[in-house]
Amino acid sequence: MNSEIPKTRERVSCEEQERLRDFVRQAAWMNGRIAGARVARPDDAVALADLLAHESIGPRIYTMPNPINADTVKVFIEDHLAQRARGDGILFVSFNREGEATAYFDVELWPQWSIAKFGGAVKAERQGRGFGGACGLAAVEWCFDQLGVTRICETTAHDNDRSIRLLSRLGFRQLGEVISHRPDGTTRPSIYWEMERVDRYAARAVRRVDLAPADPEATPPNFS
Ligand SMILES: CC(C)(COP(=O)(O)OP(=O)(O)OC[C@H]1O[C@@H](n2cnc3c(N)ncnc32)[C@H](O)[C@@H]1OP(=O)(O)O)[C@@H](O)C(=O)NCCC(=O)NCCS
Repeated sequence: MNSEIPKTRERVSCEEQERLRDFVRQAAWMNGRIAGARVARPDDAVALADLLAHESIGPRIYTMPNPINADTVKVFIEDHLAQRARGDGILFVSFNREGEATAYFDVELWPQWSIAKFGGAVKAERQGRGFGGACGLAAVEWCFDQLGVTRICETTAHDNDRSIRLLSRLGFRQLGEVISHRPDGTTRPSIYWEMERVDRYAARAVRRVDLAPADPEATPPNFS
């Protein structure tokens, strides 16, 4: 856990904190724009490791285990299930019809300050074609419209051009830098970003990512 973040810490009522925790505990599907993403289970470890192990993904995300394989990703998933049980974190994954993981989205929540941080990635072969833009918008909508936090914060590596463009486009504002701590104890300098719920209607952002192509391979939600 990086104690430098979040930078903005405005305490909310105990009732609101409990509401946020309860929402996370009961969330099973992402719903909204990315309707097929569901909470990751331990038996997703092989498929998720396959997604994350790509050189364009794992090394770019400081929260990832190192090395990335089915065993370490199973621990990553189990840790997120423990976070979900506490109501302060959740991990969603979407799959295509072949059962391959095509994208993930995870949220770290600080209920006491009503602020969430999300991470995510899309399958290497799909990057740079607008899917990440659509997923980023879905993540913002999930945090603000479903979970209902006041703020979202983000961190990006200085050389992650796509993420930097995406966050700027979505309406995030840069608020300096932080040092991000990887699970193995190493560190990475990161750009730090925040967005308030009131900022989310940045017209530029919505116009661009609303036009992103729908995901043709996504599996439909299954509520049975
Ligand atoms: C970051 C990520 C989710 C973005 O999704 P994507 O589908 O690849 O990106 P998009 O096609 O939606 O494009 C996002 C922005 O990057 C721009 N972009 C695309 N390819 C680019 C490239 N090679 N260089 C610079 N910018 C690029 C796009 O033009 C777009 O900016 P715009 O809205 O101003 O036009 C995806 O690349 C990914 O999964 N990366 C690996 C994991 C990662 O870095 N996660 C984020 C950690 S903070």
